[in-house]
Amino acid sequence: MSESALAAATARIEAALTTPQARPCVRSFFDPATFTASHVVHDPETGEAAVIDSVMDYDPVSGRTDYRSAQQIVDYVQREKLTVVWQLETHAHADHLSAAPWLRDQLGGRIGIGADIVRVQHTFGSIFNAGTGFARDGSQFDHLFTDGECFKLGALDCIALHVPGHTPADMAFVIGDAAFIGDTLFMPDYGTARADFPGGDARMLFRSIRRLLSLPGQTRLFLCHDYKAPGRDTFAWETTVAAEKAGNIHVHDGVEEDSFVTMRTTRDAGLSLPTLIMPSVQVNMRAGHLPEPESNGVSYIKIPVNRF
Ligand SMILES: [Fe+2]
Repeated sequence: MSESALAAATARIEAALTTPQARPCVRSFFDPATFTASHVVHDPETGEAAVIDSVMDYDPVSGRTDYRSAQQIVDYVQREKLTVVWQLETHAHADHLSAAPWLRDQLGGRIGIGADIVRVQHTFGSIFNAGTGFARDGSQFDHLFTDGECFKLGALDCIALHVPGHTPADMAFVIGDAAFIGDTLFMPDYGTARADFPGGDARMLFRSIRRLLSLPGQTRLFLCHDYKAPGRDTFAWETTVAAEKAGNIHVHDGVEEDSFVTMRTTRDAGLSLPTLIMPSVQVNMRAGHLPEPESNGVSYIKIPVNRF
């Protein structure tokens, strides 16, 4: 995230904080199977909406997909008479499959992700030996966002910020006074996202997080996941910059970069891979599409043996 992108985001959030109509409405949908929070954010004035980090249900045993989770978003959007203009992904998720193409068919909206998705496509295209049929140029997506790119959601001013570390392509989307920060920070009592997937980098994650934490204290932060935390019985996915600065167990104010990197890398070394990493990565690197069906009309998910 460049200095100028950070300054532009700060200015937009400060303006939104003093203008009630510049504050978007956010409705979140939590998927307990993957601990994912999907968000529908809309401009109250025009009803233009963005869906952020949707979930396609997937049973890893049977290989069967379903849209029960995404259907809740369709019902909500139709009930509220919203116009979906974006299907946004904060990054190529490794723990759940995106429903963006299905939701685009149902509701409309362009599928957008960070421009560095091409790096993720190169990495995983080679790990999964995807062949030349798999384009590694981001063309499966409708739009690739760059750091500091401004866009509109109805009358709301928005800006995309590049926040790499968890993966190389992570983006945060600032919409009015709200920031959708994907897998960077989690709730203050849970800490931060892992940085050990291919292309991940704990030091880069720390720097991205500290930049997010220099946004105005009242900025509403919406997270992509929650796993509860010791002593907390309910899931939560909304917090503020001020609350994270004061109390995030991994990166509160005063934590030095080197000690964060040591903590994060030590902790990551003991984590097992997400249950759905194989299908998630192969589908999400294709913008939520299943791999091309083979000659019998069936799509297959590969598992590289002894690679991870
Ligand atoms: Fe993630």
